[in-house]
Amino acid sequence: MKTLIKNATVVLPDEVLRTSVLVEGTKIAAVDPAIHVAADETVDAAGLHLIPGVIDDQVHFREPGLTHKEDLRTASRACAKGGVTTFLEMPNTVPNATTQERINEKLALAAEKSVVNYGFYIGATPQNLADLKSAARTPGIKIFIGSSTGDLLVDDQDVLEAIFAETTLPICAHCEDETTVRANAERYRDSTDVADHSRVRDVAAAVTATRRALDLARRHKHRFHVLHVSTGDETDLLADHGGVITAEACLHHLLLSVDDYPRLGTLAQMNPSLKTTADAQRIWEALADGRIQVIATDHAPHTLEEKAVPYPRSPSGMPNVENSLALMLDQVHRGRCTLSQVVHWMCDAPARVWDLVGKGRIAPGYDADLVLLDLQKSAVVRNQDQLTKCGWSAWDGVELTGWPVSTWVAGQVAYRDGVVCDNCHGQEAVYDHARGGYWATP
Ligand code: DOR
Repeated sequence: MKTLIKNATVVLPDEVLRTSVLVEGTKIAAVDPAIHVAADETVDAAGLHLIPGVIDDQVHFREPGLTHKEDLRTASRACAKGGVTTFLEMPNTVPNATTQERINEKLALAAEKSVVNYGFYIGATPQNLADLKSAARTPGIKIFIGSSTGDLLVDDQDVLEAIFAETTLPICAHCEDETTVRANAERYRDSTDVADHSRVRDVAAAVTATRRALDLARRHKHRFHVLHVSTGDETDLLADHGGVITAEACLHHLLLSVDDYPRLGTLAQMNPSLKTTADAQRIWEALADGRIQVIATDHAPHTLEEKAVPYPRSPSGMPNVENSLALMLDQVHRGRCTLSQVVHWMCDAPARVWDLVGKGRIAPGYDADLVLLDLQKSAVVRNQDQLTKCGWSAWDGVELTGWPVSTWVAGQVAYRDGVVCDNCHGQEAVYDHARGGYWATP
């Protein structure tokens, strides 16, 4: 199958080109304004922008075990609609993905059910060092240095030292200090006000755990990715990356704040908690100056019934894979950042952080994971339109300008003009960890 995408404005982190892209099979065959070949399909992309598919390096898709909230089919359909062509999924499913066998089971499920490309982290426990050392077919190791949804937690310093000393896969972590969170939770134990979530999971909890993790990474010279930075003070700690440290920001910590609790209630409850608009501003600044490299969603679906249970029994997390790119395109429309920056944060940087082979660029030989954008299109996010099984968005009723209109996954049209391709299949992500990650790649 040959597809010619003609006259597109191709946007990459460092260049914007008016050109055509030829896709042959699953790969990009040529990028050249002068391609004239007989293709099976020709798409006239004049007036539209073409970017590499979004790589979301932090999602929770709930399969196996929690499929009343989401599953690999519903979540990956939502990805295709949102322009996310590759997801990397966290291990806090049921059972937890803490062995090679569990990773392989998830890979087999995704091969059957996922419309987009997929990968699965292996979760750390206090007992599974041997599994972490031998793990394969995975982007890396996820450590919950503070507990969140589920029961994964590694808080013991000796265990953390051993993981950083003895494993070779890149490590990422949820950083909220367990001792601080528990002490705060005790103080607010009679509260039913969800705004107290940001006092329980406070700035000190985030900063203490991030500082601890960065110290481990620097001493052991071990590649380490800080997940969902939520405070301005953490961004200060990221200035010295030492060739091993990278970091991620999530949409909700950029676009929402503690001021949204009255409007959203427990829909705005997540871990790490929302902080102030001043924190959000400092996270934007860290993205702009390169201390934070990646934007992801932490897509964490819970049903509206579960969210309606009074705080603190309400679960933490919100869905977002199907609106994350549109939310960022809307920020481009408002002049807060450029499309090239969005491509860097959501496509190029995650491919480099996780050593993804064939991803993150539009160039000959790369995988044909592509998203066509209409930057003029305005549409309102509506709960009833959401493809995520949980069926809601914190941006319900909000109009966004700039939307993905077509998504190709490995050369197949996985989404076009409102329709998801239900017999399309994504591919298993491939990692070349010998590349050495973000700071070692151009
Ligand atoms: O709010 C969150 N929800 N944060 C996490 O770290 C986990 C996630 C979930 O799985 O629900």
